[in-house]
This record gives sequence, structure tokens and C-alpha cells, in this order.
Amino acid sequence: MIQINTRFLKGMLSQQDVETILQQSSECAKRLEEKTGLGNDFLGWVDLPSTIKTTQLEDIQATARQIQNHSEYLVVVGIGGSYLGARAIIEANQAFFPTQGVKILYAGHHLDADYHAELLEFLQDKDFSINVISKSGTTTEPALAFRSLLKLMQKKYGSDKLAERIFSTTDAQKGALKKLSDEYNLKTFTIPDDVGGRYSVLTPVGLLPIAAAGISIDEFVTGAKAMRQTVLTQPKESNPALLYASYRNALYQSGKKIEILVNYNPRLFYLSEWWKQLYGESEGKQQKGIFPASVSFTSDLHSMGQYIQDVERILFESVLQVQQPQKDFTIEPVQGDPDGLNYIAGKTLSYVNERAGAGTGLAHYEGGVPALEIEIPKISPHSCGELVYFYEYACGVSGYLLQVNPFDQPGVEAYKKNMFALLGKKGFEQAGKEVEAKLKNLSG
Ligand code: PA5
Repeated sequence: MIQINTRFLKGMLSQQDVETILQQSSECAKRLEEKTGLGNDFLGWVDLPSTIKTTQLEDIQATARQIQNHSEYLVVVGIGGSYLGARAIIEANQAFFPTQGVKILYAGHHLDADYHAELLEFLQDKDFSINVISKSGTTTEPALAFRSLLKLMQKKYGSDKLAERIFSTTDAQKGALKKLSDEYNLKTFTIPDDVGGRYSVLTPVGLLPIAAAGISIDEFVTGAKAMRQTVLTQPKESNPALLYASYRNALYQSGKKIEILVNYNPRLFYLSEWWKQLYGESEGKQQKGIFPASVSFTSDLHSMGQYIQDVERILFESVLQVQQPQKDFTIEPVQGDPDGLNYIAGKTLSYVNERAGAGTGLAHYEGGVPALEIEIPKISPHSCGELVYFYEYACGVSGYLLQVNPFDQPGVEAYKKNMFALLGKKGFEQAGKEVEAKLKNLSG
């Protein structure tokens, strides 16, 4: 169960302001539930935890087993909402130094030539499968990566074996990936029309790679279901999603324009990446929206600590506090105390990490950086399911509080238009000349 701790907010916000926003949050949640708010044709994610059928989960599990039987590696090809959720859950739950099971590699999440060329070289003598994921089926980055991976696979295994090793996740009807999947007779999982990319972790987009990595999707979905029940049944004063949305918006209104998601557990690094996309793409519109940033402490205390402590007071933190590690070890006393650490001998490393967190929170609070703490008992597929749904729900509410549509991303098109123009894509010839001229002007 997720708890919100507000000790490092004391005195930073007026109680009256928080209560007013909490009441508004509750009205925004009503709009999500009744599907009467902006972007209401993209609210399929709200009911996903309870609408996923056992047969769907079994189908995904069966495919995951097929991948595990065939392959040492699974290459997940996708970008943005088509890979970040899976990566967040996989990296949170898998061993740091995995020695068994299918290893997950990623492709098509950027355009770096070195990375993709090395990946192709690396895979030449490895047994691998591919899960290519794109809702639109036309996104350039994953489409380019898939083109070369498909070629490698054809060469390595032969065209008649493609359907055993390539699985696609895309729209039910449209897009180039759907066409390709049909042409090669690939097993294809569908992304529901009313679920946008960054809200799709609880569809096959997230579930297939997570299952292939050997992580329990049953527990993950059960966690999401539990959080669905929590947001539905808890009164607003103890509803974690409404509280989170309300506090962060109260802070925003008080001039804190940047939210830093802090973790003290490096396995949560990609959860922050997923969260940044979820909140950034959902809220950053019409010249509004909190800037979502993230740090991993204590590592980043040695790089960003100074900035956070002393910069202009435009920041607040939301800290993911994990109460129990999966593993721990006790610090041994050493005779003569050569490194001066005997004062913590007998304590566990997780205790030291917790004390570092408490000390940092207090230092930041006293320096004028408020923090709200999001406490989870431990990192597990279940708690990740709770977290995913918690953040999605709070994001929907928060977007409505800001009076933007949290389910579209019109701003993403601007860069694509220029890129297509510069690459000479059909239909962009005139735009190409204009963009080249503008660039020349800027350099001249
Ligand atoms: O949230 C979104 O909709 C986007 O971030 C998409 O997930 C991302 O652009 C990838 O799109 P697609 O799945 O169509 O390839």
C-alpha cells in the first residue's frame, strides 16, 4: 500500500489551499470516472486493471515461454510509451547482474548509429527473439531498427522461421507495422484504441516484455487492481493519487515549477524515466505544466546535490521511499577501525541509506526545497503495479487540474515535421526547402 508522507512539506503550503485543491482533484477524478473530461476517448487505461482477462494474460505468458525456450535475448523495439513502461518494471524487478533467463535488449528508442550497428554485430551469433511495439505502426525510430533486425533475422534463421521469433504489438487495423505483421504472419498483440502509448504498460505493450523477462505479470496486474480499488474507495483525505496530484499542484501554484522525482534505489532509475514521459507529455501544454526531472540518490548527491540545495527556490521533490530492500547486508566491525567506519558497524546498508535519505530530506527542507514522500513497503511486481496505476491516475487528475488534455501530445509533431522535411520524405519536399533555408539563416 502506498502512503504519502508530508513531513517535509510542513509550513510550506497553506492548509486552506491544499484543501481547495483536494476538493478540485476529487471533482477531476469524477470526470475521469464518468469520462466527461478532455481527451475522454483515451480513457481505456482507467479500467484496464479490472478488464484484463485471464485468457489474455495466459496468451501473453505462453508467448513469453516460447521466447524463453528459443532465445537468450529478447530485443524490445519501441520508443516512448512503447518501451519505457516495460523497461521500468523489468529493471525494477530483475537482478542487477542476471545470470539466467532471457536478457532484454532495447532498440529503436533513439537513432544512434553506433548503438544499432553494435547491437546488430552482437546479435549475429546469439539466439534472439524480437518484440516490435508501435501503436501507430509508423514511428521512424523503431521502424528503422526493426528493418535491420528483421533482415538479420531472415539471414540467420530463414524467412520461414520469422513467425517463431518475432512478435508484434500494434493497432488492430492500421499502420505499416500491422501490414508487415500480416505479411509475415506474425503473432500480433493489439493495443486498445482508447489507450495512449504512455498509459499502456498494462496492455501487451508492457506485459509481454515483462513476462519474457521472467517477472510475474499476475502479481503486477494484481498490484494495479489493488490501487484501482484504493483510488475508487478511499476518501479524498487518504486517497494517495488525489493527495499526490493535489500537493504537487499546490506546490506548482506556489511557484515551484520543477518536480524532481528522487529515488534511493538505482533499480528505480527507469521508473523515473517512464514517469518523466508520463507527466511531461501529459501536462506540458499551453505554456503550463510542472517540469519533471529525476535524480538517483545518493549517487546524484555527488553531482546534483549542490544545485538542489542552493539553486533558485523553484524546485520541489517527490521522493520514492522504499521501506524494505530485497536483500541487505550488515556492516562488519574492523579491528583498529582503519577507515573510521566502525561507528556504523552492526548496522545494515539499507539503514544507512534510509538515514542518508532522512538527512537529505531535512537539509533540502530547511534550505527551502519541500518534498513529499511516496512510501512503498518494497520493490516487487505487486508494488510496481500499484505504483504504475497510482502515477497514471494522479497524472489524469493533475492534467485536469491544469485544464489541459493529459491524453494527447500535439507538441511532439513539430520536430517530426522538420525531420521528415530534412530527410526528404515524400510529401515534405516544399517544407524541406523551407527548413533548410531557415537553418542556413541561423548559421549565417
Ligand atoms: O505516449 C505516447 O503516445 C507516445 O510517447 C508514444 O508512445 C511514442 O511516440 C511511440 O509511438 P508509437 O507507439 O506509435 O510508435
